[in-house]
Amino acid sequence: MIFTHIVSSALLGLLASAGLSAAAPVESRDVYAPKVLYPHAGTVWYSGQRHNVTWDNSDPPKSISNRAFIVMRQDVFFIPVVLAHDFDLRAGRVEVTVPDVVTGNFSIVLFGDSGNWGETFTINGVIP
Ligand SMILES: *[C@@H]1O[C@H](CO)[C@@H](O)[C@H](O)[C@H]1NC(C)=O
Ligand SMILES: *[C@@H]1O[C@H](CO)[C@@H](O)[C@H](O)[C@H]1NC(C)=O
Repeated sequence: MIFTHIVSSALLGLLASAGLSAAAPVESRDVYAPKVLYPHAGTVWYSGQRHNVTWDNSDPPKSISNRAFIVMRQDVFFIPVVLAHDFDLRAGRVEVTVPDVVTGNFSIVLFGDSGNWGETFTINGVIP
C-alpha cells in the first residue's frame, strides 16, 4: 500500500510536469477530456493482446495543447505504466498492448488536457 502511494505520487509529479497543474495559464488552452468508450464494463482483456482503446472524438477542439497519453487506474491508484503516448486525440482510437499484470479490475485513463477515465473492466493477467 505504501509502495502504491509512492508510485502514485511519482505519477502525479509526471502529470504536473506535463502541464496539468492548476497554475498553468489557461487562456490559450482548450480543455479536452474525451469520454472513453472502450474498454467498458464487461470487457475482458488478456495480457499480451492488442486492442483499440476508443473514445468519443465527436467534438474535438481546434488545438490540443498537451501530449496525449494513456495509463490505467486500479481503485484510486494510478498504475505508472504508459499504454500509449503521443497519438492523435482526434483519431478516437489508439492500439495498445495489454500489459503483464496481476489479474484484476482496472480503468483506462486518457490524458489530453485533463484526465478522463473509463468504466471498470477486467484484465486476465499473467499471474492469477
Ligand atoms: C484497431 O482499429 C484499426 C482501424 O479500425 C484496425 O485496422 C485495427 O485492426 C484495430 N486493431 C485491433 C487490435 O483490433
Ligand atoms: C472484478 O469485477 C468483477 C465484476 O464486478 C468481480 O466479479 C470480480 O471479482 C473482480 N475481480 C477482481 C480480481 O477484483
